[in-house]
Amino acid sequence: MNDKQSRKQRAQQVHGWMGGGELDWLYENAVGKRLVIELGSWCGKSSIMLAVADELICVDTWQGDGSDKHNEAIGSGLNPRKEWERNLKPEIDAGKVAPYVCDLYSGEDILFELLEGCADMVFIDAAHDRDSVATDIRTARRLLKPGGLLCGHDYQFEGVNEAVNALVPKHENPVKSIWVQA
Ligand SMILES: C[S@@+](CC[C@H](N)C(=O)[O-])C[C@H]1O[C@@H](n2cnc3c(N)ncnc32)[C@H](O)[C@@H]1O
Repeated sequence: MNDKQSRKQRAQQVHGWMGGGELDWLYENAVGKRLVIELGSWCGKSSIMLAVADELICVDTWQGDGSDKHNEAIGSGLNPRKEWERNLKPEIDAGKVAPYVCDLYSGEDILFELLEGCADMVFIDAAHDRDSVATDIRTARRLLKPGGLLCGHDYQFEGVNEAVNALVPKHENPVKSIWVQA
């Protein structure tokens, strides 16, 4: 089994909403990248694939987004932060992956200032309303190196596609529900 297949097998056992084609796409686009930043990691399903990069920073409150699906999961006893740590343990222990607990919509943040222009890829999958996604796109643009890869998940949701269409008019949907700046 190659690295992509073994990561996919790990990821498919993790709670989340990402399909097989999307997991493949994340791996194929993170491989060879130096620094990837993920906005919204939940239990680490997508993070496992992105962690093929040299370094991955996962930004999340790990408190969910207040939606029914998050509240139900947390209400049934799921602890997304603990799950994320358990699922990414090999990469955390190897010093390749780090969590950053942060509310993405609370204003300026020191880490984002330090990382300005440093990321080779930013994957957006945090809150899904239009204003939040628009904020994430602006944050991602600050973090990315010139020519870095800006992409995200859940394009099928109205809030997401409204923000993407407005702020990233030239984009493609290479796989169901993934959007990427063209
Ligand atoms: C759809 S889930 C991410 C799914 C993940 N990418 C996966 O593949 O399973 C959205 C995540 O965004 C996080 N989130 C929501 N609002 C946030 C905020 N204001 N700041 C940081 N993270 C937030 C939630 O805690 C949740 O973990």
